[in-house]
Order: sequence, then C-alpha cells, then structure tokens
Amino acid sequence: SDSLRVGLIGLGTVGSGVAQILTEHAQRTAQRAGRPIEITGIAVRDASKPRPVDLAGIPVSTDPLSLAKSPDNDVIVELIGGLSPAKEIVETALEAGKDIVTANKALLCEHGNTLFSKARESGRTIAFEAAVAGGCPVIAAIGQAMSGNQIVALEAILNGTSNFILTQMLENSVSYEDAVAEAQAMGYAEADPSMDVEGTDAAQKLGILTQLAFGERLTPDMFPVQGIDELLLEDLRFADELGYAIKLLATAKLVDGCLELHTQPTLIRHSRPLAQTNGPYNMIELTGDAVGKAWFSAMGAGQMATASAVVADLVDVAVGRAALTFRRLNLWQTEQQFQYQNLE
Ligand code: NAP
Ligand code: HSE
Repeated sequence: SDSLRVGLIGLGTVGSGVAQILTEHAQRTAQRAGRPIEITGIAVRDASKPRPVDLAGIPVSTDPLSLAKSPDNDVIVELIGGLSPAKEIVETALEAGKDIVTANKALLCEHGNTLFSKARESGRTIAFEAAVAGGCPVIAAIGQAMSGNQIVALEAILNGTSNFILTQMLENSVSYEDAVAEAQAMGYAEADPSMDVEGTDAAQKLGILTQLAFGERLTPDMFPVQGIDELLLEDLRFADELGYAIKLLATAKLVDGCLELHTQPTLIRHSRPLAQTNGPYNMIELTGDAVGKAWFSAMGAGQMATASAVVADLVDVAVGRAALTFRRLNLWQTEQQFQYQNLE
C-alpha cells in the first residue's frame, strides 16, 4: 500500500533519532504501521553540518516553509523547537492539508489553542506525545486509558534535565555547573537550559496536561513557577537525612472543586515512587476518581526516548489512530469546568 511520506523539520538531537529509527528499522515500522513510513525531505538550519545518521540520499534543504507545503509529503514532523518559525511551519503544513507530529511543548503551551482549532477545522491531526515527558505515554494515558475517570490530581516530574542535575549532585557529588554541562552534552537540555532549571519547561508541560486532564488552558505566567537553580547541595543532603527527596514537582489538583496548580522544588517522602525517580527519568502520578492512583515513568529527555514517542505518533498517524485520539482529547472545552485558584 502507499507509504506515509514524512517531511522532517529539524535534524538535531531528536530529529536524528527519528531519522535513525525510520531508516534503520524501516521494515519493523512498516509492519506496525501497515505501510512504509518514508522520509521524503528534511529541513535544517545549516545544510553543510555533518549528521550522525546515514540519510541515504534524502534531500536536505534550509527552507522549512517550502517543505511544510510540499506535495511530496503527507505529514510534517516539527522538531526545531521554539515559537518562531515553528508556529508558521505548523500553520503552513495544516493549510496544505498535512498532519503534524511535534515534540514542541513551548509551542503547544503558548499557541496550542490556535493550532489545535486550525487542525480540527481542516480535519487534520496534531500528535504530540513526545512534547510531554519524552518516552512516557502520558497523553495516551489521559486521553485513552483513563478516559473513564475525572482526574483529580496530577503530580509529576516533567523535566529530565532538572531531575538529572539533582541526581548527579546528590548521588555522584557532581557540582551544579558540571551537572548542567553534562545534561547539555547528553542532549537532555533545551537550546536555552534556563528553560529547564528555572522550571519553565516543566510548567509548559504542566499547562498542556492540565488542559487535557481538567479542560482548563493555563500558561506558566498564570501559576507559581520555581526551578532548581537556587537549590544547594546542603538542601538535598538535609532533606535526604530526614527521609525526603527534593524533586522539581509539577502539580495540578482539585481541592474542593477548585483547581490548584504550581511547579516547584518539593520534599517527597523516600517511600513514594516519585522520590525514587532519578536521572533523566520522568514520572507522572495520576489520581483518577475511578481507578485511584496510576504511575507512568520512562526517560523524559534524550534522543532515542523522545524519538520513540515521535515514531509511535507517526505509526498512529499511519493507521488512523492519531486522528481518533486527537478528536477525543479534552482540547475543545468551551465552558469552564473548574475554578482556578492562584495561590501565589
Ligand atoms: P536541537 O538538537 O537543537 O535540534 C534542533 C534542530 O532544528 C537542528 O537540526 C536545527 O538545524 C534545526 N533548526 C533550528 N532552527 C531552524 C530553522 N529556523 N529552520 C530549519 N531548521 C532549524 O533540538 P532538540 O533537542 O532535537 O529538540 C527539538 C524539539 O524537541 C524541541 O521542541 C525540544 O523542546 C523538543 N524535545 C527535546 C527533547 C530532548 O531530550 N532533546 C525531548 C523532548 C522534546 P541545524 O542542525 O542545522 O542547526
Ligand atoms: N529539556 C527537556 C527535559 C527535554 O529536560 O525534560 C524533554 O522535554
């Protein structure tokens, strides 16, 4: 049958992981998708840069907007990050009748409403499992497996870089500065790592999950956000001695029918699974009114864990599952369900 033709925009940490899976495991992905998934074009910023993956003759350009509207692909995978030109690229691709797969939480947190509406109006799909918690299937969990529940609480470690830094400082006596540099070298950090350590990245992901779980659209400027950049090794050590881990925790919960939200370093008892989540791993603890507590954990940052989620979204696009999920996600709420309380 016809292949799913992919325009890949961005060939950095995540993009080259996606290219690697699709080229090295073409047969496996074709089997899962029911048809081949083929990269027909790539756009980057610097076409002369050496790439760590064999592109086997796939054309590489520096013109993402042309690729976004090219008749040679059916789906655009946006992996450049940031707001601009990512927004224009996604809008152009939707206007040209393509589906979108993206890992860009900054874009979805800021412009999700506009882009989701545009996709819905044009009968297209935006799949974004990779935008929140890397390899953890949390969008699928909220949208599918837990759709019989009202989520009443969500507590999560959503930034792999911060969690890696805290683990390196406490477990391996690495200095804060060296741990930040290591996170960058491993490909965990954002292009601007202050997004990670100041809590913005985790707060953007919390904003996306809050919309899905509670139907409320809240951006990080609307709730308290604090990062790990002011924590000291002594804080981590004292907490440890007292039986607690300090984690950058993103929290959204219903308290007396009101929604409370914040992202901040939090003391968590050692016995809780969240406290035992180390290195670049993420964990989301969801409480549903029917199922009770459920935990989802995997690498939250890094090349192949994130590429794994992107390729799963592509398989879902190929088999038509992404369109079903997208229509069922809680993105279309028109009436406020819960009152939001800013505790700042
Ligand atoms: P990255 O390594 O910095 O790669 C960015 C890629 O985009 C590069 O290939 C770059 O081209 C290209 N690019 C940037 N601006 C461009 C433009 N204007 N036109 C065309 N190409 C452009 O970033 P990354 O870590 O892969 O992250 C990509 C996205 O995934 C971001 O939204 C990030 O938040 C998200 N994400 C990352 C991770 C992770 O662990 N790294 C995990 C989850 C989600 P050149 O190569 O030529 O410079
Ligand atoms: N910089 C992000 C993190 C990448 O460390 O979690 C994954 O979204």
